[in-house]
Amino acid sequence: MIPQKHGKIINISSLSSFIVNKYFHGGSYEVSKSALNMLTKVLAVEWAPHNITVNAVAPGYYGTQPNIDFFSKEAGLYEKVLEMIPADSHPMDVLRSGVSILGNVEPEGDFSNQKNAADRLLACLPSMLLYWHHFHTDGTRIDVETDDDSLAGHFLHMLHGKAPSELHRKTLDTTLILYAEHEFNASTFAARVITGTLSDMHSAVTGAIGALRGPLHGGANEAAMELVQKFSSAQEATQGVLDMLARKDKIMGFGHRVYTTSDPRNSVNKKMSKILADEFGDALLYEVSEAVEKVMWDEKKLFANADFFAATVYHFMGIPTYLFTPIFVCSRITGWTAHIMEQRADNKLIRPAADYIGPGLQAYVPIAERA
Ligand code: COA
Repeated sequence: MIPQKHGKIINISSLSSFIVNKYFHGGSYEVSKSALNMLTKVLAVEWAPHNITVNAVAPGYYGTQPNIDFFSKEAGLYEKVLEMIPADSHPMDVLRSGVSILGNVEPEGDFSNQKNAADRLLACLPSMLLYWHHFHTDGTRIDVETDDDSLAGHFLHMLHGKAPSELHRKTLDTTLILYAEHEFNASTFAARVITGTLSDMHSAVTGAIGALRGPLHGGANEAAMELVQKFSSAQEATQGVLDMLARKDKIMGFGHRVYTTSDPRNSVNKKMSKILADEFGDALLYEVSEAVEKVMWDEKKLFANADFFAATVYHFMGIPTYLFTPIFVCSRITGWTAHIMEQRADNKLIRPAADYIGPGLQAYVPIAERA
């Protein structure tokens, strides 16, 4: 993504478009083509009233019908596994295990099946997540089929047990687009490293989920929510963050390894957060978030990244905090799988060299004589 003047023009990276064209074969992969049109419309038309312009969009998460029957292949097996995962597990661990189970029951096999494997992952992730969530929070075994025609609508429908408002569907849709692909971030790189050994897609995605889980990467949106919820006024937030900075604490949702002046995704998330805060009738969380943003810029010249305002956006839609990072997975699966296919297309084992700087040769000590 390339930041543009005033942060009002969003360019989703040309890499994403390249990936669709190359690996989903542009026109010949009809769902991706329509996805591209659909996503362009979502961002360019629907957000135009909010002064956001879109130049190009990432493809992907409309890649399959979201209501593909996750449980169809092995009746009862997936439910059993999801029900056995402890209620106090982190849902990122649930997804990591869920993908691994999928790789056992529906192994990718030959790489010629890679698009099918990617489609199944895209379709199954929200279902496995929300089946587990409902089973362990309210004891219900939800139906993972809905009549929604978008993954965002399907997700919110399964979560809340009713079809979402158009505003909420569109908002979640937009965050999914913004999260879909982001070049060589840590989780994508992890997927590339695993793929480089010619391993299977489920192994690569399992590793990517593990990398995304950490608070320095995808986990930042959950940490950002926990931060803004601590404060009961903007003034308290300003002082609280100043104190944290004095203690050299990291403020989650700020800074970026690649961007240096702003994260272009943030201006979209921030506007959506304001719209939802007004709808929700809760000015506090938005004001606190703005206060944190201001003090971070004034004190450290650090800007909010995509995760910071995404946190309140999800919160205002009634999404529990512990599902924030898993939503990132449900979107980034498109980027990961495209990278996996790209790696395979011109593969080379990824194996960095290291300069050893530890102690030199040591005398062998028999085990019984070791301290
Ligand atoms: N809060 C406070 N200080 C921060 C900071 C943050 N979020 N991000 C960077 N800094 C400070 C560091 O403390 C360091 O200061 P110092 O030079 O005085 O020691 C300096 O900025 C450089 O930080 P560093 O962690 O070395 O930069 P990086 O490029 O390795 O880190 C991130 C990039 C994203 C890992 C880092 O900004 C971060 O940890 N952010 C919070 C987690 C987050 O939001 N992750 C999602 C990224 S999309």
